[in-house]
Amino acid sequence: MAQTKSLLVIDDDPHYGEMLKDALTFFGYKVFLAYSATGGLDIVKRERLDLIISDINTPSANGIQLARQLTNMFLDIPLIMVTGSNSSVDLREAMALGVSDYLFKPVNIDELPIVIEKNLERRRQESRRLRENKSDILLKALRALLRALDAKDPYTCGHSQRVVRLAMLVGNHLKLSTDQLYTLQLASFLHDIGKIGMPDKILNKADGLEDYELNIARDHPVVGSEIIGEIEELSEVASIVRHHHERYDGKGYPDQLKGEAIPYFARILSIIDCYEALVSDRVYRKGIGQSKALAEIERNAGTQFDPGLARVFVEVMRNDLNGHYPINIDHSLLVDFNSPPSASHYSS
Ligand SMILES: [Fe+2]
Repeated sequence: MAQTKSLLVIDDDPHYGEMLKDALTFFGYKVFLAYSATGGLDIVKRERLDLIISDINTPSANGIQLARQLTNMFLDIPLIMVTGSNSSVDLREAMALGVSDYLFKPVNIDELPIVIEKNLERRRQESRRLRENKSDILLKALRALLRALDAKDPYTCGHSQRVVRLAMLVGNHLKLSTDQLYTLQLASFLHDIGKIGMPDKILNKADGLEDYELNIARDHPVVGSEIIGEIEELSEVASIVRHHHERYDGKGYPDQLKGEAIPYFARILSIIDCYEALVSDRVYRKGIGQSKALAEIERNAGTQFDPGLARVFVEVMRNDLNGHYPINIDHSLLVDFNSPPSASHYSS
């Protein structure tokens, strides 16, 4: 059965907002309602949403500012703006920010579900197009980006490839579709691409980062999503990259998203990323070993990590370590960015 779609309506006119909420609930959507930009931002940080409808004249931030914040945080969630016909807001500016669609008040309620489904379908088609096209130029551009990062930080590239392999194991276990596996794979490859903008001195520092250095290091998910977000078909990948350091308890970065408000693939990636970093040898320390690393993932389930996904990951890894996991990775799906890393990278 198809999952009920969750929508957020942000409207500074409570009566209009309530009316939209009632109508959309009648059409079968789960609807959250906020009367201000701040209220809307609170909801996007804690609820999983499929689409946002925002009135353009909210009181605590103007509609364009709010649109900028929302499209930066969630490149893959369609944002529909609603505006009065006498609004001074430049709709071209809104569309340039990545707003998916707009509606004029009074909204034709009967047409609302059609507009919503059209925008949801457009996003679904994007990930399909991404895999089906497998544009050579796009893949070459991504490979060039990774090479540039590799030249700067040899650790990151090997790390990304190992994260991809683990992501494919978990993705197979979760029975993800081919389109989903492809998206997860690209996100895994590219998750640390934002480190390309990080000064070498910070990138290569073992520990003891100063506060200002920590802030720079913590910019890499945002920088990465901005780089990748330049390519429209990669909006979902960009969103996963932006949120791969969020924590399930809402104490991560950059947006302090909580629970299921964190994109599903970002929740998977954060577990794999952490595990891979723990088991890998670095210049300045040995990896902690696979069973200790798995215990660490279990210890942080429910705080740092999604508890259900952490359980799945530990199960997949234990089976993988025992060498009897019946997983077939579809190699035709994999993007060959580089030769596979050697197994000897890990400590035993
Ligand atoms: Fe990262």
